[in-house]
Amino acid sequence: MTIISETDQSATSDLAAKANRHLWGHFARHGEGINPPIITRGEGVHIFDDKGKSYIDGLSGLFVVQVGHGRKELAEAAAKQAEKLAFFPLWSYATPTAIELSERLAGYAPGDLNRVFFTTGGGEAVESAWKLAKQYFKLTGKPGKHKVVSRSIAYHGTPQGALSITGIPAFKVPFEPLVPGGFRVPNTNFYRAPAPYDTDIKAFGRYCADRIAEAIEFEGPDSVAAVFLEPVQNAGGCFPPPPGYFERVREICDEYDVLLVSDEVICAYGRIGSMFACNDFDYVPDIITCAKGLTSGYSPIGAMIASDRLFEPFNDGQTVFGHGYTFGGHPVSSAVALANLDIFEREGINEHVKQMAPAFRSTLEQLSELPIVGDVRGEGFFYGIELVKDKTTKETFDDEESERLLRGFLTPALWEAGLYCRADDRGDPVVQLAPPLISGQKEFDAIYDILRSVLTEASRRM
Ligand SMILES: Cc1ncc(COP(=O)(O)O)c(C=O)c1O
Repeated sequence: MTIISETDQSATSDLAAKANRHLWGHFARHGEGINPPIITRGEGVHIFDDKGKSYIDGLSGLFVVQVGHGRKELAEAAAKQAEKLAFFPLWSYATPTAIELSERLAGYAPGDLNRVFFTTGGGEAVESAWKLAKQYFKLTGKPGKHKVVSRSIAYHGTPQGALSITGIPAFKVPFEPLVPGGFRVPNTNFYRAPAPYDTDIKAFGRYCADRIAEAIEFEGPDSVAAVFLEPVQNAGGCFPPPPGYFERVREICDEYDVLLVSDEVICAYGRIGSMFACNDFDYVPDIITCAKGLTSGYSPIGAMIASDRLFEPFNDGQTVFGHGYTFGGHPVSSAVALANLDIFEREGINEHVKQMAPAFRSTLEQLSELPIVGDVRGEGFFYGIELVKDKTTKETFDDEESERLLRGFLTPALWEAGLYCRADDRGDPVVQLAPPLISGQKEFDAIYDILRSVLTEASRRM
């Protein structure tokens, strides 16, 4: 660990005091005795706090830093673009970097998803997709289609439309009433699949997909515009799609003329091993929403990528999608995204994920030996470890126990042991891992060693 000087120490306590007085954390608790860790530097798969201590970044910041921290080339791409043209909006104008990036993303996207609408982040991309779905159907003679279907416990962002799509009641209650029209169906948590689907993953996938058809029928097909699904659902702890699930969902969407939105804010850009995870699971959505890893976090940007069919009614020289963001497709962020995608190509980042994913899985699966570990699940470099009170019955922890386990012990203990990851109870308690995509066996082992020792202690305490 780096020894820090007295001057650094006073700068550090000064920063902590300023944070306590002025900084409002996101989804964060505040109050006496709560001091957020201050992160000052990143290098490769590591981050460093203000005291110089290093941690493995087991969550890529927030599913963002795909190519790792400290890439000079991305900082230089930003500086070069800022010098040339720091800002110009896409409001009836265009910039070279946004144009190049739109072409590049269309090239990676499947089918005829050729039209790219830029935002500054993921929630705005989701919001844009819902608005597009509504206006598209108004323009094409189905004006009643406005509702959306999504899955329980799924997180799709915080703007009020995106929050209506989000399936986590606790996040919504303080802000109700939200945008009307959001409906929930079951997610694909096979570990907690109801009988008789708990022994046949394919049948479970069919059952889950058919709940979407049922919801559309209940709401009335003439009122439903879109289904929002992540390729692998994050909240709840990494639920991969069962075999055949997306094939059936696509059929249902086609049958009812409902748009399929693949919310890839986490899963795109290599997290599962391809530029877009719908390619990993072999389905063609009508819209992809993405953000996070597109720049590996070196500058913010998001995007909604729509099919030619959805763009068609806006291509008449008159009709406008009356929607936009000042910083959407920012020239600097677009330049950084292009440079980031260059790194992906040059270093074979996706190929690396595909090649190393089985090793990541088998390393983490060794944790299944621990009494507190109920399930280890995920795909690519994206895993959730579900913690249970009783492994045989799969009994979960109650709210008070979960609070004590996650916030009282796991989060501080993992941090203290040098691992940044996420202990989460938006669904049942899970530890989530999504390391930078440049990680290899050395990092997997380091993550495993820390998890094993901390979870062993957690088993003992609970
Ligand atoms: C699937 C999904 N959609 C949307 C969002 C919202 O993205 P942002 O925080 O960039 O607004 C997130 C954020 O984690 C997400 O995971």
